[in-house]
Amino acid sequence: MSLIKKIKDYYKKGGRILFTTPSHNQGHFQTTAAEKLLGKQFLQYDLSELDGFDNLRNPQGPIKKLLENISNIYNSKSSFILTNGSTSGIIASMLAFLKEGDKVLIARNCHISVYNGLVLSGAVPVWFLPEYDSEWGIYKGIKAEQIEKILREQEVKALIITSPTYEGLYSETEKIAQICKNHGVIFIVDEAHGALYNFGNFKTKPAIQCGADISVQSLHKTAGAPNPCALVHISNQSSLNPDKLQKALNIINTTSPSYALLASCETVINYLNSSKGQLYIEKLLSDIEIFKKNISSKIHIYSGKNDPTKILIKFNGAAPSAIAGILNEKYKIEEEFSNHKSMLFICGIGTNANKLNKLCSALNEISKNTFTKCSTDAVMKYNLPDIKYTPRQAFFKDKIVIDTENAVNKISAEAITTYPPGIPVLLPGEVISKDILNKIDKSHIEICC
Ligand SMILES: Cc1ncc(COP(=O)(O)O)c(C=O)c1O
Repeated sequence: MSLIKKIKDYYKKGGRILFTTPSHNQGHFQTTAAEKLLGKQFLQYDLSELDGFDNLRNPQGPIKKLLENISNIYNSKSSFILTNGSTSGIIASMLAFLKEGDKVLIARNCHISVYNGLVLSGAVPVWFLPEYDSEWGIYKGIKAEQIEKILREQEVKALIITSPTYEGLYSETEKIAQICKNHGVIFIVDEAHGALYNFGNFKTKPAIQCGADISVQSLHKTAGAPNPCALVHISNQSSLNPDKLQKALNIINTTSPSYALLASCETVINYLNSSKGQLYIEKLLSDIEIFKKNISSKIHIYSGKNDPTKILIKFNGAAPSAIAGILNEKYKIEEEFSNHKSMLFICGIGTNANKLNKLCSALNEISKNTFTKCSTDAVMKYNLPDIKYTPRQAFFKDKIVIDTENAVNKISAEAITTYPPGIPVLLPGEVISKDILNKIDKSHIEICC
């Protein structure tokens, strides 16, 4: 029986008198303000691991069935629901398959959870910089050639990449997977922004169908589940043991996952997998196409090997921060981010034609104005810093704050990101060079003792 049916059935049969958590007692306690906010039903679904209801740590009943169903839909060896976002799937994958001292190849523009996974696992990063697109102020998708070259020179246990990137660019995942296989390297893809790829025509296959060992997808980002629902999958072709991943998930996950979230994942996945769901995604993609056709020729839309639901635009040289200010103030429209060159609007399953039309009209109207050109063209020439301590070692070091001017050759205890290039120019455990120091606009810095 599906989890949703199980919960409905429970109530149909009159429920039970529960002396268990959660304390709201299926919504008997709910403030009026919360009821207005959430309605009555949410808390009725917010049950704990009741007798016969199974649990996420060692699923044997309805949750096991639900996970098997998800695994069938995604054609994976095993899939796990995450009620703490892709963050938890990334960290757990690293804890499960990397141990202290293992080298792991990571693109410097990774999400912070990958860095935190290094702190927890004790694995040692081998950083690399993907190619930079100075026209748009973003990092490109990762090319197989770059990975092949590094793996010929360095032995690593695993590779972690983000594809699509935050800005929506695809990497050469299929070719990279083959290279990883040839070198015996575990391949983990942070596919947090790619949760719709199983269900629509995105001109890319989901990472585990491309040959990655593991992928992590945020269902809440594009696929319509509530925050922070996500999935982690192990590929059918991978030799990795799912039990290890379950054990790692059990270390970092709550022991009280909300059944309302688990049931939401079930409904969203079943819907996306239905013909109705697929039509819905087709409609989203065609609405985005129409938006692009209607946009003024003064506005450039990024088009390459990228995810169409991430609309990346730039105005003929105008500073994106100025455009973002007008959008916010005059049109009450908020973008996902603006860098010194471009701005990003994230769409997902809930983005409708009406919302896209409003954005299109606002941008077209703004484009009639004349703007001063943006000045920050110079990208900081960036060399990866020397590493003195691993992220884990740096985390446990004593720290002090000193004047930045005295920090040359000291070891940073901070992550410092500058724009451009928009990635951490310093991470904890890295040596602060004079060169980097000159480009940091900070009076104080925390260092490792
Ligand atoms: C590329 C990338 N990976 C992972 C994450 C973490 O995802 P979640 O919010 O589901 O934990 C994010 C969140 O913004 C992200 O942008």
